[in-house]
Amino acid sequence: MAFKANLTLNVLFISFALILTNVIRLRLLPFNDDAKRSLGYPSDSLLNFTELATEYGYRSEEHTVVTEDGYMLTIFRIVKQNCQGVMNGPPVVLMHGLLQSSDAWLDAGPDAGLAYLLADACFDLWVGNQRGNYYARRHVRYDPDADADFWNFSVDEIGLYDVPATIDYVLNHTHSEKLNFIGYSQGSGTFFIMCSERPGYCDKVNVLIGLAPAARQTYTKSVIYRIACITIAGMEGMLRAVGFEEIFSKGQLSQELLGFICQMKALAEPLCGTGEQLFDSFHPGSISNRTLRVMFGHFPAGTSVRNMARYGQSMLTDKFQKFDFGAEKNSLIYGEERPPQYNMNRVTVPVVIMYGLNDHLVDPKDIDWLVENLPNVLSVKRVADPLWNHFDVTYSRYTGKMLFPAVHRYLLKFSS
Ligand SMILES: *[C@@H]1O[C@H](CO)[C@@H](O)[C@H](O)[C@H]1NC(C)=O
Ligand SMILES: *[C@@H]1O[C@H](CO)[C@@H](O)[C@H](O)[C@H]1NC(C)=O
Ligand SMILES: *[C@@H]1O[C@H](CO)[C@@H](O)[C@H](O)[C@H]1NC(C)=O
Ligand SMILES: *[C@@H]1O[C@H](CO)[C@@H](O)[C@H](O)[C@H]1NC(C)=O
Repeated sequence: MAFKANLTLNVLFISFALILTNVIRLRLLPFNDDAKRSLGYPSDSLLNFTELATEYGYRSEEHTVVTEDGYMLTIFRIVKQNCQGVMNGPPVVLMHGLLQSSDAWLDAGPDAGLAYLLADACFDLWVGNQRGNYYARRHVRYDPDADADFWNFSVDEIGLYDVPATIDYVLNHTHSEKLNFIGYSQGSGTFFIMCSERPGYCDKVNVLIGLAPAARQTYTKSVIYRIACITIAGMEGMLRAVGFEEIFSKGQLSQELLGFICQMKALAEPLCGTGEQLFDSFHPGSISNRTLRVMFGHFPAGTSVRNMARYGQSMLTDKFQKFDFGAEKNSLIYGEERPPQYNMNRVTVPVVIMYGLNDHLVDPKDIDWLVENLPNVLSVKRVADPLWNHFDVTYSRYTGKMLFPAVHRYLLKFSS
């Protein structure tokens, strides 16, 4: 019982910290990286994508993708030095999940971070970023700190603009006709949205490897995640009316507090490891102490209130549909009172799905629904470890054994 009470306290503490402190911005305080280093933060938690890649002997390029609606997304290309001349074709795009950035693929370190493992296998790897996170918080017209319009998006717009713009950029830059795409959670869901809404884009991709793909969220088990998203959905109008548009961003107190607590050796595992598992599900020992100390330097990476609200909505319906503005505004925007559903028949690309039985954010029952509704499923793989959960995809120490072999095999199958 004492153990349980302890856990409850931890969750309460973290939830409290996350929700209440989000309004306060720390960007102006002199809490800089030098101060953090002297406090003992692991240096990897303070490095950006290029710096991390360089530190471990990879070459990284920084590119800027500009979407049709003006968002500027920094994306990275990472290459293993000794692969030059023997690259596996075509390029591969790797896309992160909700509240993450490209850095999530490096946080588990060179033995387990999927970006490192893919680069080691000599793929021409491009690691994307979606609007709203700290690498994609720029716009040709809007100032994210001053213009509410910048934050008027959800996965609907990310799928409509960011994913196709990233694909076009990589194809143009590499002079390739097609590429292979790996999407984790939101990175996969936004790909489906693109296929539904942007005819022709699915044809630019040989294979989609969906890691814990998030389309509808009807059966999401995580109580904390459900409550958080549904609460935000209910409060969206009010929050935005008072100018609260951005949420869980890097540099806001919530992230700084997590970063501060979780970098401490004594607290990383009992507090942050436990908190993360209460949020998702228990998989003891899967995320190393080192990764726990590093990952909260890059997570949460920020998104819009509207995007979180869109997730809340998706937990209250059994459909994979667009943002629900309410009957009146829906009629105005969509021409019908209910939000239109995405057309999964247009996801014509061959899809490989990998999921974990113990995933409490994207439930296996929602994966089943996806498999039934996608027209061209090549393979559905349940990760062999029965405790495999949602966060494991980016942060587990076992990705090399549990995910990488199948991902590698399918990428090679679609490389020529
Ligand atoms: C990453 O850090 C390097 C070195 O400090 C800097 O030159 C570069 O602009 C940073 N990249 C991004 C995308 O912030
Ligand atoms: C946000 O975008 C929707 C259309 O997607 C539009 O109807 C609405 O007026 C916009 N809201 C704001 C505050 O600009
Ligand atoms: C394609 O790349 C070239 C340079 O390599 C650039 O000049 C051109 O604008 C790009 N086109 C698109 C559509 O991005
Ligand atoms: C992680 O740290 C905890 C103490 O905080 C310790 O009990 C545990 O053995 C460590 N795990 C590993 C794999 O080192």
